[in-house]
Amino acid sequence: MPNSPKHIALLTSGGDSPGMNAAIRAVVRTCAYYQIKCTGIFRGFEGLIEKDFKELDARSVKNIINRGGTFLKSTRSEEFKTKEGRKKAYENLKENQIDSLIIIGGNGSFKGGEILSKEHNFPVIGIPATIDNDINGTDFSIGYDTALNTVVEAIDKIRDTANSHNRLFLVEVMGRDAGDIALNAGIGAGAEEIIIPEENLGVDRLLASLKHSRKSGKTSSIVVVSESKLTGKNIFEIADYLEDHLVGYEIRVSILGHIQRGGAPSCYDRVLASRLGIKAVETLRTGKSNRIVGIINRKLTTISFQTAALTDRKLDEDLLRVADITSI
Ligand code: F6P
Repeated sequence: MPNSPKHIALLTSGGDSPGMNAAIRAVVRTCAYYQIKCTGIFRGFEGLIEKDFKELDARSVKNIINRGGTFLKSTRSEEFKTKEGRKKAYENLKENQIDSLIIIGGNGSFKGGEILSKEHNFPVIGIPATIDNDINGTDFSIGYDTALNTVVEAIDKIRDTANSHNRLFLVEVMGRDAGDIALNAGIGAGAEEIIIPEENLGVDRLLASLKHSRKSGKTSSIVVVSESKLTGKNIFEIADYLEDHLVGYEIRVSILGHIQRGGAPSCYDRVLASRLGIKAVETLRTGKSNRIVGIINRKLTTISFQTAALTDRKLDEDLLRVADITSI
């Protein structure tokens, strides 16, 4: 193989997600399998600029497949956003005879990787890992499935109190500007309503729907609210509005926050991370780079950074229907 890599470096960047460790393990072991030298970069792009490097072998990644977070640590680097920062990063890669870079992270991290690769003609591959599931070029990102399960488990618990006290709970979930967590966890947890940025439900329709639920005999309700500002009103503003207009409900707000990012990865995320880690190294071995690896309709695939950035993500309309019908 003419362009086959001899020394791959890998880092995790942006918000951590469950399954990042499983992806690191898969990359390191695939390198061992093909006898490619592998260097772990600690603290993402910051560690790349500051040369926080450590050579990894197959045994360096033992007992991590089951652990949440990332043992390589992660940052959102401001310095890497500058040309000088990226030049330092490139020089450190060259100085260590590293010929390819694998980035495990989300959209922001891939953007950084794409610019580095363009400015210095350096091969980069992205492995999508974020609980938000907002990356083009893959049906699922690493960590999303685990986050969904965490959210559903939390809402199941909140439901106990909602039922016992006949209360209306507004539960805020993460996802940045993507409604994937809200919509899927909302369906899975049996929410009455789901507020997502991709669909402008509006507070009046929410109000009408909750009044209708009450009339139809529901005594408590769960409304899942995406954290995105694109929904128009934040969760406290929605709560205030409902308190002013909805008689007979006691309202509580619950913000799930960072518990959604932690914990042991689900089996699905471990398998996905393992497959994508192997695919990343094997893609470099075919001489291709500046791409994201992903899974579409159960098939491993790759898409260029550029196409991924241009394509619009579409919401699964059928899921909206499922949510509407099952919450009647
Ligand atoms: O991208 C993952 C994510 O958890 C988003 O869902 C959330 O909006 C953001 O990161 C929170 O970032 P931070 O951990 O920096 O507060």
